[in-house]
Amino acid sequence: ADIASLGDLRGKRVLVRSDLNVPLDGTTITDDGRVRASVPTISRLAEAGARVIVCAHLGRPKGAPEERYSLRPVVARLAELLGRPVTFAEDTVGESARAAVEAMADGDVVLLENLRFNPGETAKADEDRAEFADALAGLADAYVSDGFGVVHRKQASVYDVATRLPSAMGGLVHDEVEVLRALTEHPERPYAVVLGGAKVADKLAVIDNLMGTADRLLIGGGMVFTFLAAQGHEIGKSLFDADSVQACAGYLERAEREGVELVLPVDIVVGTEFSADTPTETVPADAIPADAMGLDIGPESARLYAAKLADARTVFWNGPMGAFEMAPFAAGTAAVAQALVDATASGALTVVGGGDSAAAVRQLGFADDQFGHISTGGGASLEYLEGKELPGIAILTKEH
Ligand code: 3PG
Repeated sequence: ADIASLGDLRGKRVLVRSDLNVPLDGTTITDDGRVRASVPTISRLAEAGARVIVCAHLGRPKGAPEERYSLRPVVARLAELLGRPVTFAEDTVGESARAAVEAMADGDVVLLENLRFNPGETAKADEDRAEFADALAGLADAYVSDGFGVVHRKQASVYDVATRLPSAMGGLVHDEVEVLRALTEHPERPYAVVLGGAKVADKLAVIDNLMGTADRLLIGGGMVFTFLAAQGHEIGKSLFDADSVQACAGYLERAEREGVELVLPVDIVVGTEFSADTPTETVPADAIPADAMGLDIGPESARLYAAKLADARTVFWNGPMGAFEMAPFAAGTAAVAQALVDATASGALTVVGGGDSAAAVRQLGFADDQFGHISTGGGASLEYLEGKELPGIAILTKEH
């Protein structure tokens, strides 16, 4: 159900789960994409006269308050983007939160402190989340789920609260799901997927599922080397995941058999250590020196990947092609970003999946509107593409 199903909102206390998990440098937000994405739903509720209680997490604290994970640095940015004041509660369901909610007038916005300062938010067992979920639900009359980045988490504020209050799906979650549904159910072809990032183990399930839907799978980032090792190549000191070699070899075979293009880089930019000032060299992907470490896809690969994306009608991209945060290893990621921008301009649906990938393209100087859709959820969008049920979405459609 959407927000309209909650009826007249004037005077109602509405708990909104947003994803405000932004990268911070000290107390400075380095990418405010998730704050911006959270604004439309909060605005809509406030304008309708609701008393909006925003709740969110930051980082992965272990169930107790830690100053570096406080949501306080987000308050000013949220208020600025909303164009209305935001009151910060120093806790989640304690005295400060209750007092702040008590003092609200219609249209006011309160932001609660980091949900994960309470162990009940992330507890594995349902019964261990119950008390916290009860307390959160007790603050409000209705619940809106708008934190797309966390819908794959079975957590108190994402899942359990929805069983305790009249609940609705926020516009952000709705829009994100629509885009991902288009990718999985009726992608215009050719459908190309670019997967990068360091950990191949995290991507195995999504590779498995995409082999059935995508026409081309372009591999970049640290996971390249486990594939190269699976082909029997020397990878030197590059990232390597011994537990995933068999799976990678299997995907290479399956791609061959099923006519899916599984594309690996043909050249690699290597250094001798993981550092911005390591001496660099570009080498063929099948001839990485034993003392070298692969840190980006090479220029030939970047051209190849751009060509594979040029005529694609649908593109999904998750994960950088190299260690882009260091200038000498940013070219591969920038080239893929540019290829998506070009594909967007020629009418393809392009989707950048993930908080980190989104931050990467912005850091490289690209603007959000150069892409079809920039998802706020990394893990969430991958799990959707894996075909998994997302607890935070499933609970909104179940009868309670
Ligand atoms: C994210 O950063 O992907 C979301 O905010 C979820 O955070 P989590 O992986 O710590 O649950």
